[in-house]
Amino acid sequence: MIEEDVDAIIRGLEKDNISFEDRKVLVTGGAGFLGSWICDVLVKQGAEVTCLDNFASGLRSNIEHLMEKENFTFVEHDISKPIFFDKRFDLVMHLASRASPFEFEKFPIQILKANTLGIWVALGIAKKHRARFLYASTSEVYGNPPASFIPTPETYNGNVNPVGPRSCYDEAKRAGEAFVMAYRLEHGLDTRIARIFNTYGPRMRAGDIYGRVVPRFIEQALNNKPITVFGTGEQTRSFTYVSDEVEGLLRLAGIEGLGGEVVNIGNNKETTILELAELIKKLCNSSSEIVFLPLPKDDPLRRCPDISKAKKLLKWKPKVSLEEGLKKTIEWFKYYSSS
Ligand SMILES: NC(=O)c1ccc[n+]([C@@H]2O[C@H](COP(=O)([O-])OP(=O)(O)OC[C@H]3O[C@@H](n4cnc5c(N)ncnc54)[C@H](O)[C@@H]3O)[C@@H](O)[C@H]2O)c1
Repeated sequence: MIEEDVDAIIRGLEKDNISFEDRKVLVTGGAGFLGSWICDVLVKQGAEVTCLDNFASGLRSNIEHLMEKENFTFVEHDISKPIFFDKRFDLVMHLASRASPFEFEKFPIQILKANTLGIWVALGIAKKHRARFLYASTSEVYGNPPASFIPTPETYNGNVNPVGPRSCYDEAKRAGEAFVMAYRLEHGLDTRIARIFNTYGPRMRAGDIYGRVVPRFIEQALNNKPITVFGTGEQTRSFTYVSDEVEGLLRLAGIEGLGGEVVNIGNNKETTILELAELIKKLCNSSSEIVFLPLPKDDPLRRCPDISKAKKLLKWKPKVSLEEGLKKTIEWFKYYSSS
């Protein structure tokens, strides 16, 4: 299933002559959900891939199938500590960071370090090799935008609580973006910032039930346990299937002339959390009841990207509908849970 999606991503890229063949790429956080999909595409397109990860939230099983490939090297390392490479890189993609809300409470310092000390180390590697740099930032840099900024354009500067329960993530990513812009200003690096909106799909951690909403609802529905909706469920998110997100990220990394750009990459179809719960329940044929829990502090009320910039610069828009993407994800979770 993943292989078919990887092939579809490559077909999408090659339609516009975007190829990473023979490019030397460092992917930090490459054993994670998004990072491992990126490694899959790059390896299959013939790039020479170095994947760096400390397995904080990634899994060896995500990259096990790549370990024997000649053009794939794995380095176990915490990117917030210095590392020396004697090989050259053309592209550094910095994805290393825990990203699930339940980790904000348990590992706030690690998250801050990965996006400050970690990005400093990763930018230093890019600077040394004059490599292009792509940063996996997030829609969370926008915090809680007012209705007048929904859909949210890249020009919106954000409404973020610097001392709230999510600040370790939101403010770390804002600092990460500032690091990227500083390296561009001072060292002229070819940098690109992707603001990623909620992405879901195969390889999200099954045990992530207190964190990201899609795996949580799927696990609950498949086990006929109560589906836990926070608040009234009227808050919205826009969900992007992983193959769409990864194609968008690789377009941003691969297209010439985009140095300095900051681009939203996400689905612009807004869905309420209650609609998501009901759809997952239906697709899982589940008898779960939907229950309502208090809304966590600073949980954003609406999330929807303005993707005009991605459409124009990357010739990209999401192709996979929520229902189609959820069906694939549920199938994967069924297999994953029973294997
Ligand atoms: N998935 C989403 O919906 C989403 C949305 C917005 C932004 N992002 C960003 O994309 C990136 C990847 O997210 P993901 O969903 O794949 O999460 P993930 O947790 O599956 O992957 C993150 C990877 O980084 C690794 N890592 C964490 N700290 C590290 C460190 N100090 N040194 C080395 N490796 C480290 C983890 O072990 C893991 O493999 C993150 O930076 C995240 O903030 C993701």
